[in-house]
Amino acid sequence: MSVFAYRQGELHAEALPLSRLAAEVGTPFFCYSHAALASAYDEFSAAVAGLPSMICYALKANSNLAVIATFAQRGAGADVVSEGELRQALAAGVPAQKIIFSGVGKTAAEMKFALETGIRQINVESLPELRLLDQVARGLGRKAIVALRINPDVDARTHAKISTGKAENKFGIELGHVQAAYQEASGLAGIDVRGLALHIGSQLTDLEPYRAAFRRVAEITAELRGVGLTVDRLDLGGGIGIAYRGETPPAIADYVRVVRETVGSLKTELAFEPGRWLVGNAGILVSRVLFVKPGASRDFVIIDAAMNDLIRPALYDAYHAILPVKEAASDAPVKRFDVVGPICESGDRFAEQRPLPPLQDGDLVAICQAGAYSAVMASGYNSRLAAPEILVHGHAFDIVRARPDYQSLLARDQIPDWLGAGSG
Ligand code: LLP
Repeated sequence: MSVFAYRQGELHAEALPLSRLAAEVGTPFFCYSHAALASAYDEFSAAVAGLPSMICYALKANSNLAVIATFAQRGAGADVVSEGELRQALAAGVPAQKIIFSGVGKTAAEMKFALETGIRQINVESLPELRLLDQVARGLGRKAIVALRINPDVDARTHAKISTGKAENKFGIELGHVQAAYQEASGLAGIDVRGLALHIGSQLTDLEPYRAAFRRVAEITAELRGVGLTVDRLDLGGGIGIAYRGETPPAIADYVRVVRETVGSLKTELAFEPGRWLVGNAGILVSRVLFVKPGASRDFVIIDAAMNDLIRPALYDAYHAILPVKEAASDAPVKRFDVVGPICESGDRFAEQRPLPPLQDGDLVAICQAGAYSAVMASGYNSRLAAPEILVHGHAFDIVRARPDYQSLLARDQIPDWLGAGSG
C-alpha cells in the first residue's frame, strides 16, 4: 500500500493529512515518507542478500541529507558524482569505505579530495582521466582503487536523454579499447585497478538490456582474466524504473535473477547503484491552485509550483500523476485541464489535457513520484525560492530543508561599488 493514500476524504502522507502540512510549511513543498524510503531500501537489500554485494545509493536522485541518512543507517553505501555529493554522503553518515565516485568528468581537485578521504573506489571512464588520476594519486603517495567503466553498447530502451550505454553516448570506455585500457591501468604506479563498472541508463522497464549488458561485462571479465589480469569487482550501476503511468517495471527479484545468471559465477564482489527505485515513490510535491483559468481552447489550472521546482515534465515530457488532496466524489465530473506553473514560459507545464475532477482556487494538489530527480534538479529561475523539503515519520514530520528567505536571495549577489546602485 502506498504511504500516500486517502483517508477520511483527504490525501495523507503516512498518518498526516497534507492540508495540515501545507498549513504549517506553506506551499509548494516536497514531502518525503520515511517509511517508504526505508521499505524500498529493505526490499532491495533483501533481494540482493545472497550476493556478495554492496548497495551504493545514487545520491543524484535525491541528496537531501535526511534521505541519505535514512539509507546510511540501514547500511547503505553511496554512489557520488561530485565533491559536493561526496561531502553530503560523508555528512549523512556513509562510511568512506562504502563510497564509489562515478562520473565522466572529475577534476584533479575532486580526485585529490576522494583519495584523501579514502573512499572505496573511483570509476574511471577514459584514458585521459585514468592518467590524471594516476598522477594525482602518485602526488599524494597513494594508489587509487579503480574500476573501469565500460560502454557496453546496448540500447536501454528508455528516454534518449537518460540512456547512457550506447556507443554514441559519452559514457565509459568503448568495448574495443577496454583490454588495452585495463592493461595500461594495471601498469600504473598510482592505480590499483580492481574491476569493471557499467550503467546503461535510467528508468529501465525491461530486463533484456540488462541481460545483454551484463553478458558483455562477463565476457570482458573472462577475456581480461584470460590474459592474467585481476578482476574482482563489478559495479552494475542503477537504472531500474518505477511506475509513473502504469508501466510495469521489473521486480527486483527478477533483476537479481538476471544478475545471478549473467555474472553470478564470476565470483566477484558486486555493487549496485540504485537511485530512482529507492526514492521515486517516496516523495510528492504538494502545491496550491492559484487560479482556475478557463481559456478559449483549453482550461488551465495554475498552481504555485513550477518547472523550477520539478523540471521533468518540461525536460523529458515526463508524466507525473496529479491528485487532488481533497478526495473527489466517485461521481464527480471529470474535465481536461492543462496544469501549469507561474513561470513565463509555455513549457512550464506539469500536465497537458489531464482529466481531473473539479478544482477551485485554493485547493491543494499532489504531484506524485517526486522523490527522485525532482528537488535535486530544481533551479532558482524567475527568482523563485526553492521549495522546502519535509520528512514525514508516522505522526510526526521534520523540515529537512527549509525554504530560503528573500534576504538570502538578495544576499547572493554583490553590486560593485563603482556601480553605486542600491545605496539609494
Ligand atoms: N549510477 C550512475 C553511474 C548513474 O549515472 C545513475 C543515473 C545512477 C547510478 C542511478 O540511476 P537510477 O537508478 O536512478 O536510474 N534526471 C533523469 C535521470 C538521470 C539519471 C542519471 N544517472 C530523470 O529525471 O529521469
